[in-house]
Amino acid sequence: MRLLAPSILSADFLHLEKDIRLVNDHADIIHFDVMDGTLVPNISFGFPVLDAVARIAEKPMDAHLMIINPDKYFERCAKAGVSMLSFHLEAARKARKSPARLLDKVRSLGMKAGLAINPDIPVEDVFPYLDHADYILVMSVFAGFGGQKLVPATYDRVKAVKAEIARRGLDCLVQIDGGADESNAASLFEAGVDIVVAGSAVFKSPDPVATIAVMKGD
Ligand code: DX5
Ligand code: ZN
Repeated sequence: MRLLAPSILSADFLHLEKDIRLVNDHADIIHFDVMDGTLVPNISFGFPVLDAVARIAEKPMDAHLMIINPDKYFERCAKAGVSMLSFHLEAARKARKSPARLLDKVRSLGMKAGLAINPDIPVEDVFPYLDHADYILVMSVFAGFGGQKLVPATYDRVKAVKAEIARRGLDCLVQIDGGADESNAASLFEAGVDIVVAGSAVFKSPDPVATIAVMKGD
């Protein structure tokens, strides 16, 4: 699968409707970076933005929760119209909660469940949860900010998760997030990524429609 998920963290918040319509018309998934200033050193946006976007969203809404105690907000996300939700393994560990149970809870609310890991977490750490997850989010930068450079180890990490998924015959997809652009999207998809998240490459592009086409390989 080759899906592109623009991250609205880099969108023009004065003209958010225009940027959402761009995703509706040209990309596959709308990616929301929800940050709490505690799990990650930045604060972004929350439900007022998700609720507003939901009114015009024609593509699935993907919430990437970079927050401690993510399960406090699973239900609220479902209510906002989120259909894909990822939380960080690091957050589950800090809260001493079972990642498998949290993933099951996301699924029980009718959403696809994603498990995210930062680049310093061994990729094998997600293996025990692959049958509970619909996608693994292999962060290709440290979560918290848009506009960073992709960590090169991402390619091998993606290959390792994909190999394990294939070995066990599972359906789980692989998403990467951070530093993706026109120069590396093709090689990311070749490495086995199913969903490429891209913020600045899309929204800071002088021609976002053309950039999306190049990144998707159309
Ligand atoms: C980083 C976020 C990303 C970010 C990607 O913490 O999870 O989704 O928006 O931004 P770019 O594509 O600019 O690296
Ligand atoms: Zn993200």
